[in-house]
Amino acid sequence: MAEFALELIEKASVDELRGLQFKRLQGTLRHAYRNSPAYRAKFDAAGVHPDDLRSLSDLRKFPFTTKTDLRDAYPFGMFAVPRQQCVRIHASSGTTGKPTVVGYTKNDVETWSHVMARSIRAAGARPGDLVHVSYGYGLFTGGLGAHYGAEKLGLTVVPFGGGQTERQVQLIRDFQPDIIMVTPSYMLAIADEMERQGMDPQDCSLRLGIFGAEPWTNDMRAAIEQRLGIDAVDIYGLSEVMGPGVANECIETKDGPTIWEDHFYPEIVDPETGEPVPDGELGELVFTSLTKEALPVIRYRTRDLTRLLPGTARTMRRMEKITGRSDDMMIVRGVNVFPTQIEELILKHAALAPHYQCILTREGPLDSLTVAVEAGPGLPHDSGDAQAAAERLAYEIKVYIGTSARIEVRPAGGVERSVGKAKRVVDQRRL
Ligand code: DLL
Repeated sequence: MAEFALELIEKASVDELRGLQFKRLQGTLRHAYRNSPAYRAKFDAAGVHPDDLRSLSDLRKFPFTTKTDLRDAYPFGMFAVPRQQCVRIHASSGTTGKPTVVGYTKNDVETWSHVMARSIRAAGARPGDLVHVSYGYGLFTGGLGAHYGAEKLGLTVVPFGGGQTERQVQLIRDFQPDIIMVTPSYMLAIADEMERQGMDPQDCSLRLGIFGAEPWTNDMRAAIEQRLGIDAVDIYGLSEVMGPGVANECIETKDGPTIWEDHFYPEIVDPETGEPVPDGELGELVFTSLTKEALPVIRYRTRDLTRLLPGTARTMRRMEKITGRSDDMMIVRGVNVFPTQIEELILKHAALAPHYQCILTREGPLDSLTVAVEAGPGLPHDSGDAQAAAERLAYEIKVYIGTSARIEVRPAGGVERSVGKAKRVVDQRRL
């Protein structure tokens, strides 16, 4: 099974790897400059040209790319190939209703499948395994990313997607999968459902879980491993850079995801100053794609906080398991939620005032979101109108944002005011 042998590049020396990265980086900068007007404008404004890259460390001279750049170019403005050359579009939800849109050429889908296959193998897949995919299919990159990678590796894929927990469990019982790919929080919901159906999660056929798309701690890993009697391995990625499979933990060490550095060049920068910091120091993770065609990303600011660690199971560097983001984005049970999305919905209700806070708590191992919001002017917080609006808001948050939230209507003045920036997120999970 050739697919299960390590690729040469996974065993290459650091020098070989750096040589390949430099060559690919040059190619990417040239491609972006030549073929993406948005990148050309950014480079020109910063007074840099692809020829200014004489070593990998020259990358710091080039401007960052942010989510805002992608939004401003909505939907296809950052693409470096004509849209007609894209075989796939994905998108992730945004604050203003406008999602971030990403595109893939045929070669990009091939590259992505390749790094996903590598990820699933590193996670501990074996020839003949059956994989149950519970990441969402659709615009979210999780489902299709996992799917193409597992197929490429030659495994049997059950493309279940998210939701319908009762049926998920039924099929897990019937099909006896070896591997599950799912967010860690949803894994817990599936385990609960197993118990509800009178099944001991320890007795299920699963041997391995490949978990990501949201922060999860090593304590959570231990809890999942114990509860289901499986190995739990971390997978990292983001749509703007590719999707899942930018980095993946190796099962033999489980010490933070190995970054597939032959395709994604990592840097850590100080989130305040943007200055690169040395390996080992905490900061914001920044990626430059090395092989992407449709949407090359140059120094993309992920807002994820971590540090770069030396290679262990591979020569490629690792990232420390991510537990935080540098901005206010909340991830509740696998769904990305921005306070402004909730604000947009609150503002539609005359019976509610636009004074609100999002409170994150942990009930057992699951995160819960409470939205504290004040009743509209002159309205008692327990009035029928305010309570009906709260009910409606909870429904809209579920439908439009995709997460459950408890709405707590407070009397006027009941939500903390600020003299400067409003504090929208109160995280009580770590208290
Ligand atoms: O979540 C891609 C993915 C799908 C990764 C399935 C792993 C498994 P986005 O929706 O664009 O893409 O969200 C990307 O999710 O910047 C992180 O903040 C967070 N994230 C992803 N993986 C992890 C992880 C997918 N393993 C954003 N640990 C990223 C912590 C993660 N956070």
